[in-house]
Amino acid sequence: MARNVAVIVGSLRKESLNRKMAHALIERAPEGLAFSFVEIRDLPLYNQDDEAAPDAATVAFRDAIRPVDAVLFVTPEYNRSMPGVLKNALDVGSRPYGQSVWSGKPCAIVSVSPGATGGFGSNHHLRQSLVFLDMPAMQQPEAYIGHADKLFDAEGKLANPDTGKFLARIMHAFTAWIGRFAVK
Ligand code: FNR
Repeated sequence: MARNVAVIVGSLRKESLNRKMAHALIERAPEGLAFSFVEIRDLPLYNQDDEAAPDAATVAFRDAIRPVDAVLFVTPEYNRSMPGVLKNALDVGSRPYGQSVWSGKPCAIVSVSPGATGGFGSNHHLRQSLVFLDMPAMQQPEAYIGHADKLFDAEGKLANPDTGKFLARIMHAFTAWIGRFAVK
């Protein structure tokens, strides 16, 4: 039975390196995982006052995350942390109190940057929130992918075979990680 994985990209940019990386990761995943991109661009900034009548984008986002088995986060680093749009999506999914759509879902984090440190700060700030959200985050391999502006060809395809092998390793490990938490 395929496990359903929501893919959340922490960048809204059309030519996003992170979105390209998300596609490259999916292409290298083993059998048994079914991926769907869940978009965060239309979510309003979280406002607790809106819980009385949540807007359609909020409801649709929560409904998209609730049934999945796992989540793959692929995110840039903004000012040594995760982008605000990603934090906002975490917040939207976490409420109303006691009805978080994230609880218990295994996840993996891949951070991607043109810089040398590969979004380490973003990756680990995200992990801090995931502890509170009760999402077991894959530990190994750690995935901080730097110099990402050099990794893709003009069509947006991964052009570096060594990185391709690393992505395959991440996705094999993620498949095993999801299996550990699967309800039999
Ligand atoms: C950045 N960028 C960046 N890069 C990094 O390695 N560490 C950082 O702290 C930051 N900070 C930062 C803040 C803001 C507001 C922007 C817009 C950008 C650069 C960033 O990694 C680069 O723009 C990536 O290309 C963003 O990812 P996408 O959009 O290509 O997926």
